[in-house]
Formats: sequence, C-alpha cells, structure tokens
Amino acid sequence: MIDHALNNNWDDRLLTGHSVIDAQHKSLFVLASYITHIEIEQASKSFAGEVLCQLADYAKDHFALEEYIMRVTKFPICAEHIVEHWDFIQRMASIIDRYERGNDGILLECRQFVSAWLENHISVSDMLLACHISGDVEFANELRQPDFLQNQKGVGDY
Ligand SMILES: [Fe+2]
Ligand SMILES: [Fe+2]
Repeated sequence: MIDHALNNNWDDRLLTGHSVIDAQHKSLFVLASYITHIEIEQASKSFAGEVLCQLADYAKDHFALEEYIMRVTKFPICAEHIVEHWDFIQRMASIIDRYERGNDGILLECRQFVSAWLENHISVSDMLLACHISGDVEFANELRQPDFLQNQKGVGDY
C-alpha cells in the first residue's frame, strides 16, 4: 500500500491535467521517497530490496498505461518517449542487481537518479503527451523551445 501521507518531493507544477497519470506520478514520488526512509531508518536488506522492486514494477505499469494512451490517441512522437521509459526500466534493473550483490551505496545513487528522472521526464515528455491528449498546441510548442529544454537537469549526470 502506498502511503501518500509520507513526505515526498512532489511539486504541483508537475501536474499534467490527466487525473490517472497525475495520481500515478504522485505514487511514484512517494515510492521514491521510501528510499530516503530506508537510508535513514537503516531498514532490513529484504525490505529495501522489496521497495526497489515495487518502484520498478509500479513504473512499468505506469509506462504501460501511458504507452496505451499514446497508441489509442495516435501520439506522433511516441518512439522517443518509449525509449525514455525503456532507459528507466534498464537503469532500475541495473540498480536492483547491484544492490542485491551487496552495493548498499547504490541507494543514494538510486534516489538521485529517480528524483531527477521523474522531474525531467514528467515536465517535458509527459507534459507533451498531456498536451496532445488535451489539444493544447500552444503549451506543447513552448515545451519544445531550446531554452526550456536547457533548463532541465541532466539525468545522465546521476
Ligand atoms: Fe512517460
Ligand atoms: Fe509518466
């Protein structure tokens, strides 16, 4: 069960306007915040592993929903978006693998990666999808401006 009362880094500026997508994004932020709690409370190894797997599984379900919406609404730039989802899944699989092999320090890297990835992906790629669904062409064009894209943090840095 995802506890939304937990303190997390959710920011309402990340709201896309699609109620289901937004609810799932909020849940992803809560799951990401569990990683911080694992570090602070020095939770058991099995619990920590469970949290990482839950985050990866929930993200996969969320991506499947977005990709379904892309197909039914004929989203024109779905290939790039799907590659970003795929990168996240691959990166989480690698993090889980390294954690299970005894690299406990990976939790910090995981938290930084997940927070930056979610913020960047939602604020550009998911927003473009939301604009496509709602027909907001003006905001979609704004999101595509180089100035806007340059202000996003480099996820690859983590
Ligand atoms: Fe997405
Ligand atoms: Fe998303």
